[in-house]
Amino acid sequence: QPHERQARFEALIAADRKVEPGDWMPDAYRENLLRQLAQHANSEIVGMQPEAHWIARAPSLKRKAVLLAKVQDEAGHGLYLYAAAETLGTDRAALLNALHEGRQKYLSFINYPTLTWADTGALAWLTDGAAIVNQVPLCRSSYGPYARAMVRVCKEESFHHRQGFDSLWTLMRGTPAQRAMAQDAVDRWWYPALAMFGPPHTASTHSERSMAWRIKRFTNDELRQRFVDICVPQAEALGVRLPDPGLRWNAGRGHYDFTEPDYAELARVVRGDGPANRQRLAHRRRAHEEGAWVREAAAAYAAKHAPAAPG
Ligand code: 3HC
Repeated sequence: QPHERQARFEALIAADRKVEPGDWMPDAYRENLLRQLAQHANSEIVGMQPEAHWIARAPSLKRKAVLLAKVQDEAGHGLYLYAAAETLGTDRAALLNALHEGRQKYLSFINYPTLTWADTGALAWLTDGAAIVNQVPLCRSSYGPYARAMVRVCKEESFHHRQGFDSLWTLMRGTPAQRAMAQDAVDRWWYPALAMFGPPHTASTHSERSMAWRIKRFTNDELRQRFVDICVPQAEALGVRLPDPGLRWNAGRGHYDFTEPDYAELARVVRGDGPANRQRLAHRRRAHEEGAWVREAAAAYAAKHAPAAPG
């Protein structure tokens, strides 16, 4: 009976248990989850671009190998997440089409350019740091395949975050020019990282429902505040200045006060008008087209090795 299915689903959520692919779920839950999962998967694979730009220009073999491994990890994260999204009944080709046609989003920060080598460090320290703050609660998301994918993704993101910190640490202990380059990168990446958490709660379309369904656990603002509180002592340890004159400890709240990102700019970038939106999407489409022969070869190989049909 429909009302019994609905009651079973609600009881599962209320008991904080996992919804699994075979379980009945309301259409709105499935759609909302698929929207977030697809956006998340897209962010992983389009998010390879800003750093991949620097692989061939890394200053040492060690830094090149580390960056290569990190960018490859992001591709892996995309694969776990597309696989999780597929369990909701939409195939990967359809998800990629939606990305390529601009119908499905990816995170805003990816649409900013990486101008110097220090940007790879600032990106990893700040945006992977923000990704961890956002994604650790997603390990307890109500949808089983999403929550399980997040466990491994978060472990790898932790490594990425530390390597970004290490890269900036090295630059901050280098020449004056290297220190200036690191500071300039932090100045440019701080606000795109803060904006990653999305619009303020009052303007968030999905948070209320996603939190009731335990897809999300915290509001965008709660996670943004947590991120700021974590970053301040790390910035002090690095010796970089966070570019916000309004940043100060508020003993009454037990948190740092800070200046919010420009949400009008976030909306513009999400609409497609960021500094590198067109370039990112064009590159993604080209990579997909150039990879067609790999997909065809993999499909032919799988068909050749598939067990013969019985009878
Ligand atoms: N960039 C782009 N779009 C954003 C955004 C952002 N920073 N923040 C919000 N939006 C969009 C939402 O997708 C939504 O649009 P839609 O209805 O068309 O989907 C709209 O703005 C309103 O925002 P809401 O707050 O209502 O949306 P959500 O409840 O979905 O919250 C979110 C936004 C916090 C980004 C949430 O979707 C989320 O947690 N997503 C998963 C996190 C994620 O994508 N992580 C990837 C990190 S990238 C990475 O790790 C790779 C890198 O390291 C290279």
